[in-house]
Amino acid sequence: MSRSKRKAEHIELALETGQLRGSGFEEVAFLHRSIPDTSHDSIELKTRVGELALSSPIFINAMTGGGGRQTYEINRDLAIAARETGVGLAVGSQMSALKNREEIYTYEVVRKENPDGIVFSNLGSEASVEQAKEAVKMVDADALQIHLNVVQELTMPEGDRDFRGVLHRIEKLVDCLDVPVIVKETGFGMSMETVEALKGAGVLAVDVSGYGGTNFGAIENRRRAKSLPFFEEWGIPTAVSVVEAKERSQNIPVIASGGIQSSLDIAKSLALGAEAAALAGYFLKVLSQEGRDGLIAEITSIKEELKMIMTALGANTIKDLQKVPLLISGHTWHWLDQRGID
Ligand code: FNR
Repeated sequence: MSRSKRKAEHIELALETGQLRGSGFEEVAFLHRSIPDTSHDSIELKTRVGELALSSPIFINAMTGGGGRQTYEINRDLAIAARETGVGLAVGSQMSALKNREEIYTYEVVRKENPDGIVFSNLGSEASVEQAKEAVKMVDADALQIHLNVVQELTMPEGDRDFRGVLHRIEKLVDCLDVPVIVKETGFGMSMETVEALKGAGVLAVDVSGYGGTNFGAIENRRRAKSLPFFEEWGIPTAVSVVEAKERSQNIPVIASGGIQSSLDIAKSLALGAEAAALAGYFLKVLSQEGRDGLIAEITSIKEELKMIMTALGANTIKDLQKVPLLISGHTWHWLDQRGID
């Protein structure tokens, strides 16, 4: 099957399988504050992911890659929505365009429509330094996202089976590129050990992309003759993964993603320690159901709601929000307890 056809199937199946609810945010609660001593006008949404200064902590996460006209239209609409709302945007894997130059226009449109915004390139960890340089140049990226997707590859009938040398290749990319490298998962989460290893490799930040949203185990199982059901319940829930990521690597910037569907989920992920939050499946659904203007309206209202939540909590900045008290219950509490995290 061609890469383009597979990517088109991913979009269709992501919309069909939808977002799970198991990211753990439902087990994280804010402590209400009756005297927050702030005003809505004092709230600032700007944040930093390492050297990248962002006017908003929200990203549209990597999605489409190499699906011809459909990818072009989705990327164009996402880029316009990102520009109009001032949020960052990661393009989907650019490997197909590196292998088939006719597809380059489906990515270039992102920079054309959003010349001044924060844009991330995206490739898998198999990428060579030359491919990474070309991908960054294609969209004039501010950073390169390298995605890790072991479980997706294993579930994919035509997927990779050899995962040796990944950390070494990431180290090489960090050394040889002019832009920072961010390593992201694809819906299975990262443990503190993984994040520590990536920090050692010199990456700028991690995007934990945890369990609880788009489920590539389920998506790939729909494409298999004999399914691997155990991979549909595999992974580290996003809320847990954000805390794990910060546990041993306190100063590594963390982007939270995986199952984030609302301003409240974003607020909770920042309060758990993330510097920013990224949404893929949810924004794809809004775009497909309500079009580009609907997506712009939704991102605008998420930003406004986030300000209201921060007002209620007396958190004027994202840094303040990272310090508000939280109550953690259920599976999330047990997980963190067993991992020795207070
Ligand atoms: C993705 N995702 C993804 N990630 C990546 O790094 N490169 C890619 O090319 C893709 N492709 C892709 C296609 C589609 C249709 C979806 C929905 C998602 C994964 C995505 O960035 C994110 O890590 C997961 O989807 C989990 O986040 P959500 O969807 O639960 O917000």
